[in-house]
Amino acid sequence: MGRRITDKVTWVGKIDWELRRFHGDELSTHRGTSYNSYLIRDEKNILIDTAWGPYDKEFVSNLKKEIDLNDIDCIVINHGESDHSGSLVELMEQIPETPIYCSVNGKKSLKGLYHKDWNFVTVKTGDTLDIGSETLTFVEAKMLHWPDTMFTYMSGDNILFCTDAFGQHYASEKLFNDKVDQTELFEEAFKYYANILTPFNKLVSAKIKEILAMNLPLDYLCTSHGVIWRDDPVQIVEKYLEWSDNYKEDQITILYDTMWEGTRRFAEAIADGITGTDEDTTVKLYNLSKTDKNDVIAEVFRSKAVLVGSPTINKGITYATAGILEMIEGLKMTGKIGGAFGTYGWSGESVKVIAEKLEKSGFKMPVEETKALWNPDEEALENARKFGEAFANIANEQ
Ligand code: FEO
Repeated sequence: MGRRITDKVTWVGKIDWELRRFHGDELSTHRGTSYNSYLIRDEKNILIDTAWGPYDKEFVSNLKKEIDLNDIDCIVINHGESDHSGSLVELMEQIPETPIYCSVNGKKSLKGLYHKDWNFVTVKTGDTLDIGSETLTFVEAKMLHWPDTMFTYMSGDNILFCTDAFGQHYASEKLFNDKVDQTELFEEAFKYYANILTPFNKLVSAKIKEILAMNLPLDYLCTSHGVIWRDDPVQIVEKYLEWSDNYKEDQITILYDTMWEGTRRFAEAIADGITGTDEDTTVKLYNLSKTDKNDVIAEVFRSKAVLVGSPTINKGITYATAGILEMIEGLKMTGKIGGAFGTYGWSGESVKVIAEKLEKSGFKMPVEETKALWNPDEEALENARKFGEAFANIANEQ
């Protein structure tokens, strides 16, 4: 069923309550998601984006209940990724000549994904499309989060169709930001930013400033996932500016994996040392084998400092530790300090492996790594507490 947004714009997307994994297994979606698509009815009728392929028949069938497909004058694909373009093949079989407006890179991605010679019309920043009483203006937004990404602005209703930016993997039957639980909404928006947009912080900030400088009136941010921002849409824009600027809260996060509980006990002793030195800073501990990796990334993103610990196994680190460190490196977080710790029985390489990876990821490493042989005894645990104290003092000076 379509849902009215304004007199001219109807939501025609798909709410996916079932989804728990996105991008293969790369991203957890505890609260599902939605694939938002919009139908603009003016003198010309425009479809903005579609839905993920598994829902293509459902998407097209529902769209037919809103409009005769032959009355769609053109399709705008703001971003070619499969979750937004996946229903195109089903749709284009029925209206094969309909022009598809997209960026130059958008055409590359759509051709690469579907191998079809559709009627592509490539656009760049500042190009416009007269749809009757209103105008669509295209704004390229490269790397937010793909090189093909663009936004489409609709005059009159003052809507920015902003594709993945400002989105959330958050299924809700309520369509608008003012209708949903605010804690859930911002938790999902934060996790989404931390896990998807962090590598592009500088581009996020620059693009937002560019759009704000255009002084376009803005009544709606029509995202591609989750709710539409209609109540004070600038609030999420301001959050993005904050998150894209070396974001950190007064939190130290301790990540560890453990085989026989030694590294866990060592981690807890370090936490004790931090808390004993600074009772204001929030300290959180996560066992990497038992915690959702994307929730962990959100906690790393909000932290001013991160400690990572692993037992030594096969002269290296555990699978879970390696996985999270790989993610941290790729996300290119800035302005944080790090530290490494671990336990070992024989060779003890884990702390060096962790320290090198954190340093390579851009973390400042002001304290030498620490490790305990075998199961830490009282002396080793006291050393861990002292390590925590030293680390807390340095983290407070940053
Ligand atoms: Fe929601 Fe980049 O696709």
